[in-house]
Amino acid sequence: MSIHIAAQPGDIADTILLPGDPLRAQWIAENFLESPVRYNTVRNMFGFTGTYEGNRVSVQGTGMGVPSLSIYVNELFRDYGVQTAIRVGTCGGLAGTQLRDVVIAMTSSTDSGTNRRMTGGLDYAPVANYELLEKAVQSARTQDLNFHVGGIATMDLFYDDSNAVQVLESLGVLALEMETSGLYTLAAKYRRRALTICTVSDMVATHEATDSQEREQGFRAMVKVALDAAFN
Ligand code: HPA
Repeated sequence: MSIHIAAQPGDIADTILLPGDPLRAQWIAENFLESPVRYNTVRNMFGFTGTYEGNRVSVQGTGMGVPSLSIYVNELFRDYGVQTAIRVGTCGGLAGTQLRDVVIAMTSSTDSGTNRRMTGGLDYAPVANYELLEKAVQSARTQDLNFHVGGIATMDLFYDDSNAVQVLESLGVLALEMETSGLYTLAAKYRRRALTICTVSDMVATHEATDSQEREQGFRAMVKVALDAAFN
């Protein structure tokens, strides 16, 4: 058992999906996994292990933001030997994206202090695992969805009054979320594989947002892309 995950070694699969919301973790387990078993309820941050097309896979909520995600991902990599971690989340769309689009993140810029702390003050550029990225793109091409591949940004503030959004948009950043730079940097540190796939749940400029049914449909396509990336 680790501090935040009450599982025994072996309870968690080598491959894990990481939604921010623990109820999304439960939804993924119920809708995609065969025989899911819940291994964690600490802080209601649910985690499940089951199989997908015969492959053992887990799904774990991470909470929002790099500090919360980094607690869970550290414990998953260090204490449970997780090898492949795919974040499946939502993001705020910037120029060039539309609501419900899927964004596959090659890299994530960040203003997170956590990232700098982990790299001794350097502006490290965290990157996705290329093999997972390529497989995710292959899967996305076969599905009925609009997708983009490029850089996103992991921001500490959801409610941000600064001009950061304009700067990021002018540099071609596709979307904002709050976790990926932490995930990719931890994967580099532990020599594990990581990828983020997210659906655009709201447009940052206009605040236009998807309703919950649309979010669920988008989520379904994204989870399929994530599982294909892991196992195909
Ligand atoms: N900003 C940051 N994170 C997000 C957003 C956003 O607009 N939407 C979903 N996650």
